[in-house]
Amino acid sequence: MTHTRIAHLSIDSEALRHNLQRVKVLAPDSKIMAVIKANAYGHGVHIAADALSEADAFALATPNEALTLRQSGVSKPLVVFQGFSNADELKALADLDIQAVVHQGSQIDLLEQCAGLELDVWLKLDTGMHRLGIPVEMAEVAYQRLKGCESVASIRLMTHFANADDLAHPMNAEQLSVFTSMFESLGLNDASMANSAALIEMPESRMQWVRPGIMLYGSSPLLDKTADELDLKPVMQFESKLIAVQDLKQGDAIGYGSTWQCPEDMKVGVVAAGYADGYPRHAESGTPVWINGTLCPLVGRVSMDSICIDLRGVEARAGDRVVLWGKELSVDVVAERAQTISYELLCHAGACLLTSGLLLE
Ligand SMILES: Cc1ncc(COP(=O)(O)O)c(C=O)c1O
Repeated sequence: MTHTRIAHLSIDSEALRHNLQRVKVLAPDSKIMAVIKANAYGHGVHIAADALSEADAFALATPNEALTLRQSGVSKPLVVFQGFSNADELKALADLDIQAVVHQGSQIDLLEQCAGLELDVWLKLDTGMHRLGIPVEMAEVAYQRLKGCESVASIRLMTHFANADDLAHPMNAEQLSVFTSMFESLGLNDASMANSAALIEMPESRMQWVRPGIMLYGSSPLLDKTADELDLKPVMQFESKLIAVQDLKQGDAIGYGSTWQCPEDMKVGVVAAGYADGYPRHAESGTPVWINGTLCPLVGRVSMDSICIDLRGVEARAGDRVVLWGKELSVDVVAERAQTISYELLCHAGACLLTSGLLLE
């Protein structure tokens, strides 16, 4: 398939493997459930599944994501975070030996109604996130019901942190303590709490299984540490080209809304990457873009297919390579300047540019 746009992505499988090694070093006694939902955070689920073949399991968000991956030949244990929502989905998961998270009573009803299946389940407790999960007070009852289900082959326990990126947050200790005491009282063998941030910063949360996502893709999960400081390597390289260089006069205003004016006579470059390519529309003037070894500031509003760059301080001409994020510039820096998180930028750029060819080849 040919590229339809100048902006493009490339994915560094070696960096994915390196980041998985970092997880192994940090959590040597835990099994690794690599989170590759949402098309591996925009990186391409097949590329990620290949590169992360040393993980012990893969986590997906929905039954369809897991079924598609299994049908494409991936035989590793797969876990569906949202579990199933009807009997057909439940049967389809059991048929393909895919593990399901059970996070609400209606799923236990379905398990009780469907005999003759064999499903490995993760009982998810809500220890404070208040998103998916059975309330802790109901854990014992839910567990006993699951234990009594003929179709349940095994039960593991899990929960999710609400504030793991902020080590100082008091809820972390609370969630840890509630979950670990419930794990002990139920007498189970396998439990999982830790996402990337928790597995790095909270050793007690590692337990039998860790569930890293964002760190595998080379972005920092912590508010106060960079990916470099954590020895994580960027996986997604988002590049484009300069397609024009304008000689503008002092006072000339740039782009829609004329939000930025040239402080002096100067060159302004136009890069073929905009919000249709997954570059964040809310990136503010000053957001860095790498051109010929220099970090140059974005000026004016992001358009659908282009951005404008202050070229003072760099020699550049139309056709030159531009890095929006990747090895030369962390996606974390761009995310901060766009008032968002790297997760969103990676997912969005992947979704925008996958059809350009590379990841659908
Ligand atoms: C239940 C669950 N576990 C683990 C993860 C991975 O989190 P992170 O990408 O912050 O490591 C996610 C991500 O959204 C999740 O929803």
